[in-house]
Amino acid sequence: MNLNDCYNFEDFRKLAKKNLPAPIFHYIDGGADDETTLKRNTESFLKCDLVPNILASVGEPDLSTEVFGQKIDLPIFLSPTAMQRLYHHDGDKASARAAEKFGTFYSMSTMATSSIEEIANISGGPKLFQLYIHKDQGLTDNLIDRCKSSGFKAMCLTVDTVVAGNRERDHRWGFTTPPKLTLKSLMSFAMHPKWAFNYLTHEQFQLANVSHWTKKGSSIAKGVMEYINEQYDPAMSWKDAEYVVKKWGGPFALKGVMSVEDAKRAVDIGASAIMLSNHGGRQLDGSRSPFDQLPAIADAVGGKIEIILDGGIRRGTHVLKALSLGATACSFGKGFLFALGAGGQKGVEQILTRMRDEIRRDMILLGCKSIKELNKTKIAYR
Ligand code: LAC
Repeated sequence: MNLNDCYNFEDFRKLAKKNLPAPIFHYIDGGADDETTLKRNTESFLKCDLVPNILASVGEPDLSTEVFGQKIDLPIFLSPTAMQRLYHHDGDKASARAAEKFGTFYSMSTMATSSIEEIANISGGPKLFQLYIHKDQGLTDNLIDRCKSSGFKAMCLTVDTVVAGNRERDHRWGFTTPPKLTLKSLMSFAMHPKWAFNYLTHEQFQLANVSHWTKKGSSIAKGVMEYINEQYDPAMSWKDAEYVVKKWGGPFALKGVMSVEDAKRAVDIGASAIMLSNHGGRQLDGSRSPFDQLPAIADAVGGKIEIILDGGIRRGTHVLKALSLGATACSFGKGFLFALGAGGQKGVEQILTRMRDEIRRDMILLGCKSIKELNKTKIAYR
């Protein structure tokens, strides 16, 4: 199996599984507890169907939309995800370059393995920074200042990870950042010699944005859950969110909003967007899927704030359904990470090509010339 055989999410996932040591594959693939929310995130797209209109003379549809004050050529972008250097030795550089080629957002995690400055140097594309509020306020301020001086376009504050979700696969496989050589993980690394060779012969793993502040997670191996619980502030509040809105001063999203009440409050504090997300099913298991919650959110705050649907997206049709129900844009994590693990920058470009082709083809089939023409009339519930 190689990249040319990858037509859909499941193909990229299979190739990534083949390429990556088991603890790393399962870190991407897994969710919290029984993984019910992880599964539901995708299943909920099956609850409704697309209803096409015919003879609409579409010709070439326009796939662009505007989010965070930026026109993007595709209505989907890369969600912020941690430690990309583990999935391919080019890590964030590969995904940033791929996103730029497709005219869409690359997002950087606080836990990225390339620094804000490194990525600003190699990519002129639109960039979003994902912030975690640290117990150490100085580090939070430092990250915001660096994003400003490096030309990042937008910022999001993750609000659903004040304590780490229970990722049982990580316990089982002993996943740590950076990878720790236990007997079990060593065997898995030995079975993936190409990955191990590339890991050892390219630049050293580090949480590049925070390693000057804490060695934990960089030269001191930590479980990710342990890292989150040690570093992030579990007492984060609306006051902290307001502080970030003001200090950042640019396009800003709260990431991990799920309730109508919180969506309204996000408008009140001056956020320009919300990312409707449950952290890819990695946090509160048994929580509702973003797609199921979208109609209520769009009813309450549509037109007042941008709504980004994040979670469960595997297909271009999922994006089209979300846009029809009021999302401004969508983002995905697992899909592009598997593609990164499957083939680095080429892999990410390949999955973005598949997404773009599917969205374009299906807009023509739906009879839509532009994203604006996607609305509730395109959707029927069973
Ligand atoms: C995770 C954090 C690091 O989901 O965002 O693993």
